[in-house]
This record gives sequence, C-alpha cells and structure tokens, in this order.
Amino acid sequence: MIIAVDGPTASGKGTIARALAAHYRLPHLDTGLLYRAVGRQVFLDGGNPDDPVDALAATSFPEALLADPHLRSEETGGLASRVSIHPTVRQALFERQRTFATQPGGAVLDGRDIGTVIAPEAQVKLFVTASVEARAERRWREMHERGITASLEAIAEDLRRRDARDTERKDAPLRAAPDAWVLDTSTLSRDQAVAAAIGAVEEAL
Ligand code: C5P
Repeated sequence: MIIAVDGPTASGKGTIARALAAHYRLPHLDTGLLYRAVGRQVFLDGGNPDDPVDALAATSFPEALLADPHLRSEETGGLASRVSIHPTVRQALFERQRTFATQPGGAVLDGRDIGTVIAPEAQVKLFVTASVEARAERRWREMHERGITASLEAIAEDLRRRDARDTERKDAPLRAAPDAWVLDTSTLSRDQAVAAAIGAVEEAL
C-alpha cells in the first residue's frame, strides 16, 4: 500500500504522514527534507539556488546532511523552494523517492507531487491543506516554542510567497491529484486531523 500525502507548508501533512506511518506500520519519507538538503548544500557550496547548474550539483549532497538541524530552518525552507523549481533537480531526486514508494510492503510519502508525479498509482492520496492564517499561527507557535521570535504577518507573507512559487512552477506544481481526498485542517486539532486521515485511508482500502 502506498499512501501519498501532499499539501503546502505547515498544513499538517508531515504530522499526518508520520501518524499514518505509525498506525499502519509503514516506512515514511519526508520528501521535503531532500529538497531542503539540496537547498542547504547550495548554500554550503556558496552557489546560487536559482542557477540550475549550481542546484543540480547540490543534489549529490552527503547522506549525513539529512540529519543536519539546519534543514528545519525557515531559511533552508526558502532555499528548498527555490532549488525545487529546476526540472533537473526534480529528476535527480525522482529515483530515490520512487524506489522508496515502491518498496515491498508499502510506504507513506509526504511532499508536493507524490500523488501526481512520484506515485500516481498510490492507493491512498490525501491532499492536506489549511488557510494561510491557520498555518501561520501554527508556524508561529512552533517557532515560539523553539525560542524564535517572528511576527505573524511576516510568517504569513513567507507562506504566501512559498505557496506561489510551489503552485506556479511549471514542473510538478503543487496541486491535488484529481482522485485525492482533500483534508482541510484549518479548524481541526492534531488528533482530529489524524483521525480524519485514518478514516480516509480506511475508506480508500
Ligand atoms: O515540505 P517542506 O516545507 O519541507 O518542503 C520544502 C520545499 O521543498 C517546498 O517549499 C517545495 O518547494 C519543495 N518540495 C517539492 N516537492 C516535494 C517536497 C518539497 O518541491 N515533494
């Protein structure tokens, strides 16, 4: 069984994907982390994330980079969304995601294009979304807990910028697959969102 969980930043897709993986005892891949590693590697190389040659070179990042706490930062998220525009970067990361998705026994993957490009044959496709306001508030709380101060408006602005970049790019833009189950988490608690996602999986099986 392949479970594809797509959606914008801070929609709750990562939390839902992890919970589904634990519930169904399936391995989980956060594909955003791969793009974040490329973004971080471009930065470490002193390259330009908007240059397709620099970005492609960064796809051969060392495995250990995936454990780097810097990958979680807002800065790296911004770099990830810039390198992920280049089709050559997406191609370079395709095989790794495809192999993970098709491993015997199944898998859960979360990202932007799992249900549309990486595993269009997935038995379960969830498109997790939420209003910019709800997402900004969650991000603000997360950052606050880590001792980082930022204005809610600045966070919302950054989310809008990243949404625009992710939905307007030509190659594998962020969009729900036609057969995806759309889950709006704006007014749901974590537990409610996870319960709704499990319900959707049960219905799809
Ligand atoms: O999900 P996360 O915020 O970690 O992703 C960082 C960036 O990586 C996204 O803004 C998006 O541009 C890119 N990404 C992508 N395709 C994926 C996962 C992430 O283009 N499957």
